[in-house]
Order: sequence, then structure tokens, then C-alpha cells
Amino acid sequence: MCGIAGCISKHGAVSKILFNALKRLEYRGYDSAGMCTINNGYLQIKKDQGKIDEINARLNFLSLEGNIGIAHTRWATHGAPSQVNAHPHVDCEKKIAVVHNGVLENFLEIKQELEARKHVFLSKTDTEVIPHLIEEYLKLGLSFKDAVREACKKLRGSYAIAVICVEEPDKIVIARNESPLVVGLRDDIKFVASDVAAIIEYTNKVIFLENGDMAVVTPEIVEIMRIDSGVLVERRITELNWTVEMASKGGYLHYFIKEIYEQPHTIKEALRVQEKYLDLLTEFLDRGKEIFLLASGTSYNACIAGSYMFSKLARLTTFPVIASEFIENYGRSISIDTVILAVSQSGETADVLTALDYARYRAATIIAITNVLGSTLTRIARAYVLQNAGPEIGVAASKTFTSQLMVLALLALRLARKRGKISQFEIDDFSDKLNSMPSLVKKVLEISDKPVKELSKEVAKFNSIFFLGRGISYATALEARLKVMELTYIPCIAYPAGESKHGPISVIEDGYPVFFIAPNDETRKHVIGNIMEMKARGAKIYCVGSEDDRELIELSDWYLGLPHVHELLSPVIYVIPFQLLAYYTALEKKLDPDKPRNLAKSVTVL
Ligand code: F6R
Repeated sequence: MCGIAGCISKHGAVSKILFNALKRLEYRGYDSAGMCTINNGYLQIKKDQGKIDEINARLNFLSLEGNIGIAHTRWATHGAPSQVNAHPHVDCEKKIAVVHNGVLENFLEIKQELEARKHVFLSKTDTEVIPHLIEEYLKLGLSFKDAVREACKKLRGSYAIAVICVEEPDKIVIARNESPLVVGLRDDIKFVASDVAAIIEYTNKVIFLENGDMAVVTPEIVEIMRIDSGVLVERRITELNWTVEMASKGGYLHYFIKEIYEQPHTIKEALRVQEKYLDLLTEFLDRGKEIFLLASGTSYNACIAGSYMFSKLARLTTFPVIASEFIENYGRSISIDTVILAVSQSGETADVLTALDYARYRAATIIAITNVLGSTLTRIARAYVLQNAGPEIGVAASKTFTSQLMVLALLALRLARKRGKISQFEIDDFSDKLNSMPSLVKKVLEISDKPVKELSKEVAKFNSIFFLGRGISYATALEARLKVMELTYIPCIAYPAGESKHGPISVIEDGYPVFFIAPNDETRKHVIGNIMEMKARGAKIYCVGSEDDRELIELSDWYLGLPHVHELLSPVIYVIPFQLLAYYTALEKKLDPDKPRNLAKSVTVL
């Protein structure tokens, strides 16, 4: 989730405005940054790896002259953080500069086509194909605007782009598909940005572009049209009364809730992981004699769900293991035949890295899933897949959990196909279900928000809570427990529902709250038994289950019904009500949901 900005003014240089916009966008990603203006008919570019202030101290962005420019702060998805991979990217003749936020699915195909036509690429990014594509269309005699439009028609994936060209220095051309893009309006000066935070200090009058829109932006006017047809369209001008802080949270009160609501998008981005890396990971998993899924905290809960996916889809046994226990528990027995799939959103968790260091010296193969390109984990792993979830600012994980689940499901499916363990019908069916997850998650957010918010008033008074689930829902129960506990400070217990009768049930007394996660899968009939056991001892039953499950609705004191979902994908939607519950209960208790006490986003101590 990079940040892009652009500015065109009738009077004076824009570098100061772009620099301020970059600072406001830094929260979206911060591994590198760059700026480009047009001055005296040439592109002037300054870009580098590092934090914006550090880069500015070295390169002095403010020395860039020109009344038109674009800027970028990067959160790497293709190509590690470096000077060459930093945006803006340019064409062969250095006439066109592009900044981009998003993930292009078909950049390799396009790159190969362009290389065959003698285009030279300098970076490892997906973005660099865009200026070269535009260059091709300009050579065919198209105007700058039409060349951008034709280029966009070839792109598959998500993008918000801002483009400038020395041959038409009186306009910025912008376009979007899925990634957000907003235009800010003031007399004789216009702004473009990935979000309002970048420009709110200059104007509160904005136009939000819609999916498939592009626009030609000059100091005086904004002309918006559809990318596919070129037909001009009108978009409403919105007047915002947001502060800069509110804008960086997208109008939400906290990052945690913003990130919960980003999940339909981040889940879609998770589905865009590059196939060749998935294949590489699949290859290693298939070769391993013993496979560990190693992680901490929320990422460990994702690994538990992953172990069900690997065994049920690909018939592969894997061992989820808490990173800090790995060396003691398995250290002596690992060997060259061991494969470790490390899952870490930050890629910097000390417990994970220490376990991996140990395993590396015993010749184990290390592969990874992470959200941060350039993190230590990406440097140690033989191969890795990125989650593409964008930076997560709330200390407690939300969107990165569901994107980890999606990547694990994609991997399990690949492995199943490679090992010939499931039929073509099952493969197609599971792929369809995966692709339907973004809209399903959106629906679940709509269904859950109100009733969960209401429930949080009651939950805020609890002294302790039980979370139970069977099968893959055990992973959901663990994550529900972790979220509610870390944000509300209420001690919580999570167990596999079947295990609860072997001890934990002694906790139950009249009115004790027990949450069941009970999708309509093979475990449901046993879950009913567990509910009965709890009810018989006076527990109050709160249940999240399938929307049409009459029997469960009858048995529960509180019930939330969710749409049907594939059993192995159920954690992706069943965790959402609990993320919301953690959030709203924290608010009820007047706690800060973005910064729970005693916690750090990245735990770099053992
Ligand atoms: C919980 C949470 C932590 C992290 C854990 C691992 O909400 O955020 O439990 O999941 O510290 O972090 P990563 O995934 O960065 O290794």
C-alpha cells in the first residue's frame, strides 16, 4: 500500500507541497520515497531508499523546481526496497514519469513483450512497465491522455497512478482500478493523492475517483472519463471537515477499525500473489520430509488454520509450532529434510528469527509468508510469498491475519494440485470460493457491525470469557480469544471445543459467557453436544454460526448468523465479528484499541 501524490499549479513550484504530502502519506509505507517535477522541458527526479526525512536530508526534495510534479512513498511489493526500485519510474527516453500504488498481475507478460521491442528496464518493480507502455502508445502518435488510457486497458490488477510527460507539461494524467485516488481542488492549483490525508491541509474540496476512472488534471480543470470507453463523466465534489489525523485514518476513529474494514480489499490483494513464488514454495513443501509452520501470536493462529488446510486439501501433515518453543521442542531433531514455513507479518519477530537461525545451521529449508518486503525474514528465506496487505498500524493484527489465511489457502490448493490429491472439480470449486471471499467479507462486515457493537456493552462487564471451536474453527477461537483479550484486558480462554470437557469445564458456573464458533461443517454435530454440556452447567451461550441454522439459533442466548462459506475458509469470515467485538468492547471500556498496553507491533526481543 504505497502512497502517491501529485500537484499542478499555475503559480510557483510544487515541491514543498509534494514534500508535505509525502510526510502525510508516510504511514502508508516507508521503505523508500521519490519525487519528480518537470522543469525546462526535462524530468527532474530525486528518489532513494529510507525514511522521507532521511532522504530529504541527503537529496533535498525542496530544491526541485517546476510547477508540476508527482511523488511517492513506497511499501514494497515487487522488488526489494532500493534506490532503483523507488518510484517514480520512467520510460527509455526519460520523458514520462509514473508513480503507482497497487499490484499488477500481468506485468511479467507485458515486460517480456516490451523487452522484445528493445525497452530496457532498470528496476524489479511491476510499475516500470507502465511508463514503457505509455511510451509505446506515444510513439504510435497518440496524445498523452490517450496513451495513458490505452496503457491502462492493458493492465490487470490494482492500480492508482499519476503520470507526467515532458511533451505535455500542462497536465497530470491519473487513473485508478481498485486502489483509491482522490483529486483536491483549489483555484489555479490541483492536487492528486491516494488519500485525503496527503492534501487536506491545502483543500477540503475533493473528488473521489471511481473504479475504472481516469482524469486529466490541469491547474484550472479536472476532466474525468472512463478508462474503457473514454466517455466523460461527472463526479460529485465532496467538502470534508476532517482533520489531518482523521484523514490518515480514512475518517475512522482508529487504525484498528480502519484496518478491519480494509479486509475486502486486502483479501483481494492477497489473491494477487505471484504465481511463480507460490510454485516455488509449493515445490519446497512437497519435498520436505517434515514440515513445520512456525510463527508467533496471531500468525501462529493462522498457522493452525493452515495445518488444517494442508492436511484436508493436499493430504500433507504439517506441524504448527510457536516460534519461542521451537528450539527446545524440535531443535535437536531437525535436519536437511526439514522444511520450515515461517509466517510473520513484520518479518522481524525475534522469536521467529532466532528459531530460523538455529534451523538454518542444521541445513533446514526456510520458506516464508510475510507482509514486509525487505524484512529480515525475506533475506533469510530461500523463497517467500508476500501478503500484499499494506502496512498495519494498529498494534493488534487484523487484516494481516486474514491475508495470511488467504495465502495459506492458495498454497494448500497449489500443493493439492501438484500432488494430484484432489479432482479438477474440487480445484475449480475451491478457486471459485477463494475468489468470492472479498465480497463475502464485505457482507460479513455489514451483517456483524451493529449487533456486535450492541453486544460489546454487555461484554465490557465480563470478568472472563471462554472461546470454543472444533476443527479449523479452533484456530478462529484462538484468534478471537487473542483479539478480545489484548484489546479489552479481559482474561480469556480458548480451547478446542471437544477438549473443554477434559478440565476447563470446571470454570463454568451460572451465567458464565461461552462463545462458540460453529459454522455448518462436519464438526457441527459435535459442537452441539459441547453446547449442551456447557448449558447444562449454567453457561450463557453466544454463538456465531451459519445464517440458517435453526437448531443453533434455538440453543443460543445470543446468535450471529453468517453466510455459507467453504469449511477451510471459514476462519476468514468467522474471525471478523470477534475483531469488531474486541474493538467495540475496548471503546466501551475507554481503552485505546490502537495501542493496547504493554504490547509492541513488532516484538524484537526474545
Ligand atoms: C496480535 C499480534 C501479535 C503478532 C505477533 C507476531 O494481535 O499482533 O500477536 O501476531 O507478535 O508478529 P509477526 O506476525 O509480525 O511475526
